[in-house]
This record gives sequence, C-alpha cells and structure tokens, in this order.
Amino acid sequence: MIAPIVHTVVEVRAAVSRARSMGLSVAFVPTMGALHEGHAALVRAAVRPASFVVVSVFVNPKQFGPNEDFAKYPRTLEADQALCSAAGANLIFAPNANEMYPDGSVTFVDIAKLGDGLCGASRPGHFRGVCTVVLKLFNIVQADVAHFGAKDWQQATIIRRMVRDLDVPIRIAVEPTVREADGLALSSRNRYLNAEERAAAPGPYRALLEIRDRAAGQNAPALEADLRERLSAIPGARVDYARIVDAATLEPIAIVDRPAVAAVAVFLGTTRLIDNILLGP
Ligand code: PAF
Repeated sequence: MIAPIVHTVVEVRAAVSRARSMGLSVAFVPTMGALHEGHAALVRAAVRPASFVVVSVFVNPKQFGPNEDFAKYPRTLEADQALCSAAGANLIFAPNANEMYPDGSVTFVDIAKLGDGLCGASRPGHFRGVCTVVLKLFNIVQADVAHFGAKDWQQATIIRRMVRDLDVPIRIAVEPTVREADGLALSSRNRYLNAEERAAAPGPYRALLEIRDRAAGQNAPALEADLRERLSAIPGARVDYARIVDAATLEPIAIVDRPAVAAVAVFLGTTRLIDNILLGP
C-alpha cells in the first residue's frame, strides 16, 4: 500500500487519532528525507502487528548553520514515499517550513553541555534546532515510540535526555547503523561524494574497528590520538574530531573502563561524514 502524504498538523493529528480509535499503537520515524536503506530499517523496526507508523520528512532549517548544506540538501519526496511504503509506513508527514514555524515562532529547546561537544562544537546551535523540531514533531504525532539511528549517537543521546528532562511520554528506540558492504555508514550526504571521496569514505569506520578491539582498559586520550592519526592518513580527509566519551553522558573519560563510544567526524572534500563505534571495558 502506498503511504499517503499529508502536509498539515491537523491532518496528522486526525490520522493518528483514527488509528488510535482502531486500537493501534503509534510509532514515529523522524527524518529529513533523501531516504536510504538506513531509514528503511528504522521504518521496518517500527512496524508491529498492531502499529500505525508515521514518518516525517522535513528539512529543518533551524538545525543548519549559515554555511551548511540546507539549500542543497536533497529533496526527493516521491522516492521517499516509495521507500516508506515498501518498508511498511502508514503515513508520511511532509510539512513546509511555515507549517512547522509559523510567523512569530520564538520558542526553542536548548540542551546544555550534552549538545556542546562533538558535533555541537563544530555546528553551534545544531542540537538546539534538532531538539526544537523533534519536540514539536513528538507533540504533533504523539506516538508511543520513536526510532532513531545509532549513527547519530550524540543526537540519540540528547533526544533521550530531552525526553527524560521534559517528561515527554514517548519511548526512544535506537537502531543499529546500516552500512554499505565496505563499511561506509549509510547517510543522505553520501550522495555528495565524488568517486575518489567515495573510495576513501569507508576509512573512518576501518579506523574505528582498528582501535575497538584493543580499547578496553586503555588510556582514552592516547587512543584518541591514535584514532586521529589513522583518520588523518585517509586520502583527502580532514579530521573534524575524534573523541572517546562515556556512552551515556558523552563526557570525556580517562580510561576505557566503562561503556564508551568512539565518535568521529571527517570531511572528505566538502562533505562531512560522521560515524561511531561502541567500546566496552
Ligand atoms: O536525524 C535527522 O534526520 C534529523 O536530525 C531529525 C531527527 C529528523 C530532526 O530534523
């Protein structure tokens, strides 16, 4: 069945309330479109025997910096509809910017500290924009559960914290990163890569794998330095960050003696790729 597309808050709420009146639970997958197999996996994870699955497609201007790729971010709604439908979604919510941020919108959700490091350090205001739109979407859809990808570990951690701090009645499920056969994490931005950059693009994941197996009990700053060196050796790569942090708090750690995450961001040309791997003690 082709999942219908609606563009307004009123239409989503009406569809969700019809689904609820039929006894269905509601699952939600927020996206910015340009969907790929990673998003399809999120939708498939959301599909349950008595569930109604809503996917949002909205390129959120508030999470892009002034020199970032908002204008060129791929918009592929027709293909997105086909992918969502094949994966089992029931409704697509594709609002325009005015529907999400009517004139006079001034309220933001700010997340201290957790949003300052890693991607937040190089993308000031990014997580403020993410939290604001995600909370709005949660309020619009009013789902029981929302699915996020582990590739954006910092984002998933921040959303969990926002939901806890603001008592949002929703469960957050984090699904494993989906990868190409050569290890490159799927991302809507991979389509920006030219042939040379694409050939180098699995490098960050290889570097993460190389440090993972000997991480337990190691000095984290030394491991970070090793990771950074491996990333710098990738042809054409410019390292944005290579950090090892507590997996739950995103705080720096001295020794890998608890669940930790090694997180990296690397530019290949003008394309910024992120990836991460969990490290155990
Ligand atoms: O991960 C994304 O695609 C976006 O940050 C999200 C969660 C849809 C908010 O715009």
